[in-house]
Amino acid sequence: MTDNQAADKDLLDQAIKVLNDNQRGDHTVPADGYSHQWLWDSCFTAIGLRHMDIERAKIEILSLLRGQWANGMLPHMIFVDDDEHRRDRNMWRSRLNPYAPDHIATSGITQPPVLAEAIVQIGAKMAAPDRHTWYQTVLPALIAYHSWLYTERDPHGEGLALLVHPWETGLDNTPPWMNELAEHDFSIWIKLATKKPVQVIANFFRRDKRFIMPGQRLSIFEGLALFSVQRRLRRKNYAIDKILSHALFAIEDLSFNCILMRANQHLKDIAASVGRELPVELTKSMAKTEEAMELLWDAYGSKYYSRNFVTHKLIKIDSIATLMPLYSGVVSKERADQLVALLHNSKEFKTDYPVASVPIQSSWFKPHGYWQGPAWLNTNWMIIDGLQRYGFHEEAKTIVKQSLAMTKKSGIYEYFSPLDGSPAGARDFSWTAAMVVDLLQDKRFHSEK
Ligand code: GLC
Repeated sequence: MTDNQAADKDLLDQAIKVLNDNQRGDHTVPADGYSHQWLWDSCFTAIGLRHMDIERAKIEILSLLRGQWANGMLPHMIFVDDDEHRRDRNMWRSRLNPYAPDHIATSGITQPPVLAEAIVQIGAKMAAPDRHTWYQTVLPALIAYHSWLYTERDPHGEGLALLVHPWETGLDNTPPWMNELAEHDFSIWIKLATKKPVQVIANFFRRDKRFIMPGQRLSIFEGLALFSVQRRLRRKNYAIDKILSHALFAIEDLSFNCILMRANQHLKDIAASVGRELPVELTKSMAKTEEAMELLWDAYGSKYYSRNFVTHKLIKIDSIATLMPLYSGVVSKERADQLVALLHNSKEFKTDYPVASVPIQSSWFKPHGYWQGPAWLNTNWMIIDGLQRYGFHEEAKTIVKQSLAMTKKSGIYEYFSPLDGSPAGARDFSWTAAMVVDLLQDKRFHSEK
């Protein structure tokens, strides 16, 4: 065994241990100290688990489906049902909405639709008859979820799903959203945030304050603003028509819609492979989404952006979403070339430990600033996958290599400085571990193309 192979083996063992230590019954928590189940965390986790234990990968996904609402929504959190966590459930009170499940408490918003990706990756590890059964088991829930994304979240039939809370992006404090938040009526929070009692409340809400270094999470202003938006949604019982009747804050998020486009392709493949027709309305909406990508293109800056649902203005602030059209698979090769150029530009996304979640020349950039600078392995995985599909094998290989290098050097952390690979956030983080397992074990990341 070469030194390199030994280091890979050691990393793989560490990652497997993290995924085993973070297992709580039928789901995997994001890290020790968390109790609940998160939607996209479990999807990424299942992508790693499929190499270790295919049954566990399936259960991870099926356990997410427990939380599905009667209207098809998949909530971003499913809560543990014990006395200790009553406060978390009460913060959401999602049962106010008639579609929420009776038997289980969930949040009232969603997260990026990575579900189809996880289903397909799990299927890829199965023999054909088992895959057929697996697809048939999960397809109705997947169709219901994608249909919900269009019926509830695309009220004007434009093909783009709108989001009503930054948590729905999975990129909590990402600059385009924080900028919009600051432009709304949240200045009051800035004033309040300097007052001591409010700081006490803000800290109270931070579930992970025990083990996160100061400066690596949301600012107090950002945290309070996010909770304030959540309270508004709760006051409307999470009913989208009521929320949108006073829509101050709804965004057609670029990253979310790119993930939706890739998920739609997977959904079509899954349905075709089991010989099932998708509902006509859904097929129409999915086609519209691919065309709608053009609505997010800024010809002047040659980049895609999120769009404010109410004003239709593009939010021209760069972030990791800038690169996500590569994952969508629907943009032309010429546009993909333009995006890949950003990965080679040291003012933009070129760093020693890519991919920064904000370009380094941005005034928002902070190497350890949560979704405002650090490199994350889940977004790296999606960008690698997209680069490979467009034929950018060298760029993909560099990100694979450096993703593994930073975890070898710093541990299985939640995120890393893109400048020096130093660790930040929670240690022994599940999706980092799962992405490591997949990057090491899936042959397509090591082919000699
Ligand atoms: C944070 C992240 C989000 C993740 C959650 C649980 O809110 O921003 O993406 O799903 O933590 O790990």
